[in-house]
Amino acid sequence: MPPHLCATGIDKAFPGVRALQNVQLEIQSGEVLAVVGENGAGKSTLMKILAGVYQPDAGTVEMDQRPIVVRSVKEAEHLGIVLIHQELNLAGDLDIAGNIFLGREPTWGGLLKLIDQRRLHDNAAKIANRLGLTIPSRTLVHQLSLGQQQLVEIARAISLQSRLLILDEPTSSLTETETARLFSVLKELKTQGISILYISHRLKEVEIIADRVVVLRDGKNAGELRRGEINHRALVQLMVGRELKQFFQRQHQAKTPLARTGIEVKDLRWLPAQPGITFTIEPGEIVGMAGLMGAGRTELAQTLFGVRRKLTGAVTIDGKPIAVRKPADAIAAGIFLIPEDRRIEGLILTDSVKHNISIASLPALSRFGFLQRSREERLAEAMCERFMVRTPGIGQMVGNLSGGNQQKVVLAKWLSRTPKLLILDEPTRGIDVGAKSEIYALMDDLAHQGAGILMISSDLEEILGISDRVLVMHAGTLAGSLHRAELTEEAIMHLATGGESRT
Ligand SMILES: Nc1ncnc2c1ncn2[C@@H]1O[C@H](COP(=O)(O)OP(=O)(O)OP(=O)(O)O)[C@@H](O)[C@H]1O
Ligand SMILES: [Mg+2]
Repeated sequence: MPPHLCATGIDKAFPGVRALQNVQLEIQSGEVLAVVGENGAGKSTLMKILAGVYQPDAGTVEMDQRPIVVRSVKEAEHLGIVLIHQELNLAGDLDIAGNIFLGREPTWGGLLKLIDQRRLHDNAAKIANRLGLTIPSRTLVHQLSLGQQQLVEIARAISLQSRLLILDEPTSSLTETETARLFSVLKELKTQGISILYISHRLKEVEIIADRVVVLRDGKNAGELRRGEINHRALVQLMVGRELKQFFQRQHQAKTPLARTGIEVKDLRWLPAQPGITFTIEPGEIVGMAGLMGAGRTELAQTLFGVRRKLTGAVTIDGKPIAVRKPADAIAAGIFLIPEDRRIEGLILTDSVKHNISIASLPALSRFGFLQRSREERLAEAMCERFMVRTPGIGQMVGNLSGGNQQKVVLAKWLSRTPKLLILDEPTRGIDVGAKSEIYALMDDLAHQGAGILMISSDLEEILGISDRVLVMHAGTLAGSLHRAELTEEAIMHLATGGESRT
């Protein structure tokens, strides 16, 4: 069968970067084709070209054996090509229905074109329900969690009746249940002959959903795997061109006893009817925090960091009470937060890689109040090297980096200091398989230097792999705490889904 879409010889350069060189890609009708590769390999750029966001410097694209030129996103949508971006793209002050049908709202009243609110919401609810998004369609999007926002984007794409659906890391903030639901929707779309391009760093998902995988490395085709050949090892081998250890091993043994007591949180509440949350994190301890989406993990982090107001509760560090009313108070007390939504809260997109990294370390890099440029540059260079940030130089604007490389810059910014408590909210989301272990190694180092670490993660493998202890949240409160010896996927899920604590 001739391919549904076929791209040949695609080149694309940005200043200082050859993002794509002579790339080929074809996809059949009803095929799920995964595209994988390290951060900066060119995946998003290729997808943006197919979807009319960028124009290629060279190359041709054919659809149903006819050449097409996609000059804009609108033209792509006319052709039935819809891209769901890696960075969410919703209008925060519109509601769910408004976002799903933005620009295509059902109307009545002839020329007046009044929006038919009832039909709008009925239609929106139907699509949202299919995805398991059961929140009222009049809810404003900025009130939704990241995962819910992602579902709204997917609902929008489905409503556009696309024939080629491109999903750029669609599950990065979805939980396992939501991911499973998305997969069943994708399977249904597949039977309708819709082609799906699927980008993900979660290789397990690729193994489950993909009919075929195309691997990009340094902007070039690195190889291809057919259904029966797709496995973790083969994928990694093609992506990074070498073998990687299956999973990161902690280098340092459990903490050495210190005179310090670490951080104690007592009876913390940010909602009126909420049971108080109490826990401690000792110096040198890596505490994982598991829970389903909406369990309150991010809210807890924000409350500790002073982004969200607490209603009750006391926090002490090494026995000393601290008062956190705003993030600056938290930072002064040695509490750092690497937020979940790093593009909004963690980066100045229009500033350089160098400044974004050094901004958290300015006092340490200054003498007599003057920033020492050479030290700033050395720090930025060292951190970029450590994290393998792919950039033409430390002067590059952060907004021009690939999604995963932006994430690495936020991590580099905070991990270049030594906090008392470091809170990481989904630290490896969107990070490629090679750089992940680098991040774990840094967490391990920081813990060894005496920092307490609270790592919020929806990736159970990661939680099991590096935590000394795991706190599980359910419905806005702490459902239980599991020690290393009791740690299993089942034990975590039992607590996360509201099961009784067995301890
Ligand atoms: N608008 C831009 N200006 C300059 N450089 C860019 C721009 N967009 C992408 N690049 C560069 O092109 C290369 C490929 O980026 P791309 O976003 O396609 O990577 P990716 O494979 O999607 O990575 P990730 O897994 O991190 O999302 C990177 O080196 C990136 O810095
Ligand atoms: Mg990308």
